[in-house]
Amino acid sequence: MKTSFIVRSLISVLLFCSSLVWAEESFKIGLILPMTGQSASTGKQIEAAARLYMAQNGTTVAGRKVELIIKDDGGIPDATKRIAQELVVNDKVGVLSGFGLTPLALATAPIATQSKTPMVVMAAATSSITEASPFIVRTSFTLPQCAVAMGDWAPKNGFKRVVTLVSDYGPGIDAERFFKERMQLNSAQVIESLRVPLRNPDFAPFLQKVRDLKPDALFVFVPSGAGAALMKQFLERGMDKAGIKLIGTGDLTDDDQLNDMGDGALGVVTSHHYSAAHPSALNKKFVEAFKKANNGLRPNFMAVGGYDGMRVIYEALKNTKGGQGGGDALLAAMKGQIFESPRGQIFIDAQTRDVVHNIYLRKVEKKDGQLYNVEFDVIKDMKDPGKTK
Ligand code: PHB
Repeated sequence: MKTSFIVRSLISVLLFCSSLVWAEESFKIGLILPMTGQSASTGKQIEAAARLYMAQNGTTVAGRKVELIIKDDGGIPDATKRIAQELVVNDKVGVLSGFGLTPLALATAPIATQSKTPMVVMAAATSSITEASPFIVRTSFTLPQCAVAMGDWAPKNGFKRVVTLVSDYGPGIDAERFFKERMQLNSAQVIESLRVPLRNPDFAPFLQKVRDLKPDALFVFVPSGAGAALMKQFLERGMDKAGIKLIGTGDLTDDDQLNDMGDGALGVVTSHHYSAAHPSALNKKFVEAFKKANNGLRPNFMAVGGYDGMRVIYEALKNTKGGQGGGDALLAAMKGQIFESPRGQIFIDAQTRDVVHNIYLRKVEKKDGQLYNVEFDVIKDMKDPGKTK
């Protein structure tokens, strides 16, 4: 009788101590980004946004210290996967996050599944990514959302014969397919579909082909960081003057590069979920704080994906009292979150774990001497059209 009392007391003391140790151990967030290579601007933007979120919201959540571990994968899928494995096994991160390109997210998905670690995709945007693991939650966007919005806008505005030009991988193929289907639904036509390599693309021969085809418009998807090169070559060839309207998803007129594209970019219409010129009080505060902390750098849609991703992780930590219940509990607390983002209202669909948000139609205009994507129309609360297929 007496011994069992002592044993029970000892067990409670041990349990109490281990919970103290647990609370003292920091909760680690692994943030894997391309900080070098072709997509380095994505890494720079997301890192800055994650640091800003932590500076604004503190580094202790539900009594537990939060630690951010940032790793550079150089945009190489094998590296992302290896880093994710090390972060899970050696550093014991509670969440994996980042993922600057679709192949990087897809390479890591099996690790999230096997280790039951929530994986917050802050950048990559191919529709199918969320289906690669039940532990994936996305705060970026999907290409079908943008392509469908543009496939409705273009024909209604007189662009009925269009050529598409996309980067030849997941998000480009999504953009091409969903834009084309929507155009056909609206009795308009994609007369040619061109795909350019993702790595070191030379747009010249493709643009020459577009010129010869003389469409009403050219619809473009290139990933963040590649828009300026395309814009330059489009203008150098005088394609705008030849009467070919440039349209696309907002990755083309990326806020990270837009202001350096020159006045030739004026009037370009794109569809996207975020513009630094989004006229809400929350966004104005976000843009100001971001610029202040980063030498005047303007945040782009990648930054917002990172900022919102951190919010989703922090709220999940709060709702699980600092991550109690492990990966399954954190994941459950991420699903269904609804909040105001710098982009507008955002919702993490509990069923698909994908982002539901507004898609805006925007036109490049000059404001206070700077080029911005100025929103002029909105499709509210758009789910990923890729999920209903
Ligand atoms: C992607 O690889 O999924 C991706 C990258 C950059 C973008 C959009 C999509 O701007």
